[in-house]
Amino acid sequence: MSESSAIAERLLENIERVVHGKTDEIKLVLSALICGGHVLLEDVPGTAKTVLARAIAQSIEEATTARVQCTPDLQPTDVTGLSVFNPKDRDFEFRPGPVFAHVLLVDEINRAMPKTQSALLEAMAEFQVTVDGVTRHLPRPFLLIATENPIEQEGTFLLPEAQLDRFFVRTALGYPDEGQELRIVEEQVAGHPLARLEPAVTIADVQELQRAAQEVYVDPLIRTWIVRLVRATRELDEVATGSSVRGSLALDRAVRAWALLDGRSYVNPEDVERLFIPVLLHRIFFTPSFLAEARDLGWRVAGDRFRARCLSLAPPPGPDLVREAPAAATA
Ligand SMILES: Nc1ncnc2c1ncn2[C@@H]1O[C@H](COP(=O)(O)OP(=O)(O)O)[C@@H](O)[C@H]1O
Ligand SMILES: [Mg+2]
Repeated sequence: MSESSAIAERLLENIERVVHGKTDEIKLVLSALICGGHVLLEDVPGTAKTVLARAIAQSIEEATTARVQCTPDLQPTDVTGLSVFNPKDRDFEFRPGPVFAHVLLVDEINRAMPKTQSALLEAMAEFQVTVDGVTRHLPRPFLLIATENPIEQEGTFLLPEAQLDRFFVRTALGYPDEGQELRIVEEQVAGHPLARLEPAVTIADVQELQRAAQEVYVDPLIRTWIVRLVRATRELDEVATGSSVRGSLALDRAVRAWALLDGRSYVNPEDVERLFIPVLLHRIFFTPSFLAEARDLGWRVAGDRFRARCLSLAPPPGPDLVREAPAAATA
């Protein structure tokens, strides 16, 4: 455990050399990396989304990164790559597209046509793409970070509800505070800090994190509570469709990765409460009246209220909870 905690700390610290004041948001993205999940970032431009994707890839030795800018005419093969005829060999040869990268940034995914979104979804769910009937595996780890601009919705193809569920977490980086913004400006006087960023971990280290997250202890009371919380999302009046079972699976995985990134070998109830919104909220479809309320109050307040209602239906485990793994479970 301590070895994997050290890896997690090195990775996080390295990324924070470049992205400032966003520890929790970076940890959410790294939780997705550790769990083999993908991230939806809802942000205005200029909030370090590209820089974060690059920083993650550059922090991992030999990891590659690519970026796709979505437009309505972006074809699936622009993402996956395609077979082209090579007259010299008189044969077709496969030219891999940007999807064959360890960290793929998909900017403005809501501008891509549904066919292209589907190709991306196959990559996300199956870690493979199919081109001309041939299935090709993506490099691992594979982390897809998609962005959506929350302001501009015109001329976009909103992701269908079923596809939102494919994202492990949704978050936003948001603006830095004044102090951090000043630091960013000063730091970039002599060029961008990304140019000076060295790798801090290897691909094998990331695999070690993925393995270690499976061993993080979740008390049976916490696990039952996670399931009850997700089930509560299906019961409230303000919900049209609650979270699917994917939500329970994701919340259980996410809290384990989060604990690991915090240097712990066990999950706390606070982890579950902290991750409820980024893991579950985008998987829930609310009634029009709740949506109207959310527009008035802002999503932050509405989301917190919704979480509070789920917590009152499914309260956290009480004093019986054993936080650390019992000796028998770690042996
Ligand atoms: N929190 C932050 N920490 C460090 N740099 C930041 C932060 N927010 C914005 N920046 C800087 O702002 C610029 C734009 O970032 P970029 O990643 O290109 O934005 P976008 O979100 O549009 O992809 C970069 O120089 C980036 O370093
Ligand atoms: Mg960008």
